[in-house]
Amino acid sequence: MSYRLFEGKDHASIYQKYRITPPEELKNIILQYLDTKKGQPHVLAVDLGCGTGQNSRLLAPNFQEVVGIDISECQLEEARAVPGYSNITYRKGTAEELQFPDGSVDLLTAASAAHWFDQSRFLAEASRVLKPRGCMALLGFSDTNTWFHYQTCGETLGHIYEEVKQILMPYTSSPVGVADGKLEELYRAIPFPDKERIESILVNCPISVMNLVGFIQSWSMFQAYHKKDPQTAENLLLSTQKRFLEVMGVTSPDTELEWQMEYFCVLASKPR
Ligand SMILES: C[S@@+](CC[C@H](N)C(=O)[O-])C[C@H]1O[C@@H](n2cnc3c(N)ncnc32)[C@H](O)[C@@H]1O
Repeated sequence: MSYRLFEGKDHASIYQKYRITPPEELKNIILQYLDTKKGQPHVLAVDLGCGTGQNSRLLAPNFQEVVGIDISECQLEEARAVPGYSNITYRKGTAEELQFPDGSVDLLTAASAAHWFDQSRFLAEASRVLKPRGCMALLGFSDTNTWFHYQTCGETLGHIYEEVKQILMPYTSSPVGVADGKLEELYRAIPFPDKERIESILVNCPISVMNLVGFIQSWSMFQAYHKKDPQTAENLLLSTQKRFLEVMGVTSPDTELEWQMEYFCVLASKPR
């Protein structure tokens, strides 16, 4: 079964504007892993569930070629509209049927996406297309160890964020729960003996109030809520922004706060 929750044009443009690019620290961990297991050259990286391409663009300087794959044409259109990345191509496709020859891919990534895939079909395809010693890196961020910092009001900002999550909880699809479990089940199912799961990479990310609210708007559960009751959903965003600004004692939504995010990453290398 495929989940088609990222198909709308509006949702895709929200993605382009507000999705957060994975941090350089995490990219370096992935590249070091690839260097240790397979070594140079870094020819082809395939970014599955690429959405609007944030992770594909992050990888572009380190590979001869990057291919971003997504089932949503609207997401891909937004990705293709970003100029300046001549070594990236975006193709419509699924993680369960990869249009690459056997043994042809150096690195397979999925950023905040692997939880949407059919586990066994994806793993069979990953095993087929990776080069010997080629690697997969399945990354994401978790909401369990999140902190906000702004003067002395970080804790109150955290409570507001938690309240929004609670309101959206009933609209959560089951695969999101898999991501919340930091892909433990998927990790266990990877058929390669050489694998590791890094559960916590803490990263400080400066973010404006407007971008934080936009990020909430990009969530699949917010979009499900919006579909059911657009006005109430819009009001939730407006009131969340207002509450953040009031607590911070500022008026501009461009005001930045510090967000401590927790990323996780499953790494695995195909046997020789
Ligand atoms: C939460 S978004 C993440 C997008 C992007 N990687 C990011 O970090 O912002 C998940 C993406 O996976 C795509 N997707 C879901 N199931 C898929 C599948 N089976 N094969 C390929 N893409 C899929 C969706 O269309 C969506 O764009």
